[in-house]
Order: sequence, then C-alpha cells, then structure tokens
Amino acid sequence: MDFNLSEEEIAIRQTVRDFAEKEIAPSARERDENSEFPFEIIKKLGVLGFCGVCASPEYGGAGMSYLSYAIIIEELARVDASVAVIISVTNTLASIPLRRFGTEEQKKKFLPALSSGEKLGAYSLSEPQAGSDASNLACMALQDGDEYILNGVKNFVTNGSNADLIIVFAVTDKEKGSKGLTAFVVEKNSPGFSVGKIEKKLGIRSSDTVELIFEDCRIPAFNRIGEEGEGFKIALTTLDYGRVGIGAQALGIAQGAMDKAIVYSQKREQFGKTINKFQAIQFKIAEMAMEIDAARLLLYRAALKQDSGEKFTKESAMAKLFASQTAMKTANQAVQIFGGYGYMREYEIERFMRDAKITEIYEGTSEIQKIVIARETYKSYDKV
Ligand code: CAA
Repeated sequence: MDFNLSEEEIAIRQTVRDFAEKEIAPSARERDENSEFPFEIIKKLGVLGFCGVCASPEYGGAGMSYLSYAIIIEELARVDASVAVIISVTNTLASIPLRRFGTEEQKKKFLPALSSGEKLGAYSLSEPQAGSDASNLACMALQDGDEYILNGVKNFVTNGSNADLIIVFAVTDKEKGSKGLTAFVVEKNSPGFSVGKIEKKLGIRSSDTVELIFEDCRIPAFNRIGEEGEGFKIALTTLDYGRVGIGAQALGIAQGAMDKAIVYSQKREQFGKTINKFQAIQFKIAEMAMEIDAARLLLYRAALKQDSGEKFTKESAMAKLFASQTAMKTANQAVQIFGGYGYMREYEIERFMRDAKITEIYEGTSEIQKIVIARETYKSYDKV
C-alpha cells in the first residue's frame, strides 16, 4: 500500500486547513458555548464540494477518493469536531444507502442536493431500546398502496433537526428479526414526521442530536431503499463507511489537541524555563505523536482499502477504535499540559476532551468495534 499523498491530496489538505483556520476555528468556542449549528459554514463547505466528496460527478458529487475524504474530515475536526461530524454524516451515513443500494431514479432525485450541501442528510437507526443491539427495532413501516406508513420513535440522530432527508430503518416484518428491517428516505416535510427532544450534550455541542417522531407518517413507496428485509444489511454496510469518518474525526481531535499542547508548552514558563524543556512534558508529547501516527496509518489503510473496492469492515473498525482511544488519551493529556488553565473554557483545550468522548460511543461503541474486529479476524483464519 502506498501511503504517500498525491499532489491532489496534499492540495486538498491545504485548502481545508486554510478554510478551517480562517472560517471555522475563530467561532468554534462560541458555537460550542451556545450550542449553535454552523449553518453558514456548512453552506460554504457545500460550495467547496465537501458535502459529496466521494459521490459520483454524475449525481453532483466531487468524485474524490476516500483518502481525500478522510483528510477533509480530519482537518475539520482539528479545529471543530462538531463541523466534522455534520459533514461526515451527510457524506456517508445519509448518502451511502442511496449510492450503494438506491435505484437510478432515487440517485437522480436525492443525491445532487445532498452533494451540493443544498440539503443536509441524517441517518436514523438507533431507538431507545436499540443502541448496540441495532436490529432490535420497534419503529414499524407498513405498506398502504403506493405509500408506507411509519410509526415509532428514533433517538440520537445526528443532524436530525436540520436535515432535509433522513435515512430511516424500520420493521416491515416483525417475525423475521434482523431480516425484517427495511430502509427508507424520509423527507422532512412528510406528514406525521416531527422532531422530538433536542439533546443537551457533553461535547460536539454545535451539532444537533435529536429524537425523531413518526406518527402515521406517510412516505411514497418510491422512497424505500432496496427490498423489504434488506434494511439491516444496508445499515451495517453504511456504518463501515461512517466509521472511517469517525476515525478521521477522532484523529483530527487528537492532532488539534497535540498542536495546542505543543504551542502552549513552548510559551508557558515554570521553574525558570518553558515547560517543553521538562521530560515530564516531552514524554507526553512523544506518546501523543506516536499514537497519532499509528492512528493515521490505520485510517489511511482503511481509506485506501475503500478506494480499492475491497471489503474494509475490519479496517474501518480498527481505525475508529484506535483513533477514538487516541483522541481521548491525547486530549486528556493535553489538558494536563495546560494545567489549571486547561480546565478553563477560555483556553479551549477542554472542548477537545469533551468532544473526544463521543468518538468512543457513536457509530458503534469501542466494545462493538472489538466484536467486529474479532469476528473478521476469526473469519480470516477460517479461510486458511
Ligand atoms: N456489512 C454488510 N453486512 C453485514 C455487516 C457489514 N459490515 N456485518 C454484518 N452483516 C450482515 C451479516 O452477514 C448478517 O447477514 P446474514 O445473516 O445474511 O449472514 C446480518 O448482517 C446480521 O449480522 P450479525 O448476525 O452479525 O448481527 P448482530 O445482530 O450480531 O449485530 C453488530 C452485529 C456488529 C453488533 C451490529 O448490531 C452493530 O454494529 N451494532 C452497533 C450499531 C451502531 O453502530 N449504531 C450506531 C448508530 S448511528 C449513530 O451513532 C448516530 C449518528 O447519527 C451518528
């Protein structure tokens, strides 16, 4: 595998970094304080082609590689993990079900607006009783002529209150368990659809996480993705893609936290010298640098495997697991380097620690990633 970035990928990193430093970083703290959704920033990212990074140009996408996508999410998260997850969800969780399983008509109808950022996407699998046990859904979808009627409650939906279209998974045949689930596109103006509780969160506070309510919600049968019963396969296939995005988000958080800790340690004086002269600090930076490099290699491997068209279930789970652990550890140690100032909101490093935690939870907890990795590892032994 060639881990060297192409000229195009280097240029993409520079473009996103410049945009992130200039347009996102200065207001990130304020948005976090006020739980304010970054509408203007998302619009501008759409214009840059970053809402449909890997979607085909035929459907309005930028047609870039998954490695470019990982770089974009990493650079956004380096300054603001909320912006990174909003962009990640609309790029993958909302778009992959259509790109991989949608009909030509569905692709033409839904993808161009998603890719341009004109419309924002969300993905709604979890329910109050169905988190890690994702197939244990209660939300029902019953066909009525050329419509489906949805009833139930979904929770923890990133982008849910601002999304124009949401990929929703529901039960179409109760008897069949995970083989009785079906995927749908629900547009926000559908009758019977409403946004419920808006969560107050520890981190990623400027992205919205909400409950969605379906009360005799009618959608056209046209909006069913794939066949009835294919929903769980579509959900898990999509999460393989999503997890590369969350791995990239976690990596960006870790990189951003280390960058801040290094700058601070070069200025802060104690005992008559800047603290970067002390081995206690240097050893922390050494651990951070090593783990960030390792996370980046795992992430790039997963992205390159995606680009090659091979199965990447194990690689994406490994990248997400390791990068999220790295984000948590690095942000925690970065706060430690800042000492008492690190605990104060003004210094912004505490935001990285709060934001890092969710990467160990959403799109599959660390424990779920270990289940996926173990299963895939056993499978590879079975083949021998
Ligand atoms: N790709 C395609 N198909 C897959 C797959 C994959 N990666 N993994 C499994 N499948 C298939 C299996 O082959 C199986 O099909 P067959 O029976 O035909 O062989 C079927 O799916 C069921 O698989 P399992 O028996 O392995 O299912 P399971 O019930 O044991 O669950 C799990 C497996 C890995 C635990 C899964 O439930 C899981 O990933 N849970 C976590 C869910 C999750 O990540 N939720 C996050 C939601 S999104 C979010 O966080 C909010 C947000 O907005 C960001």
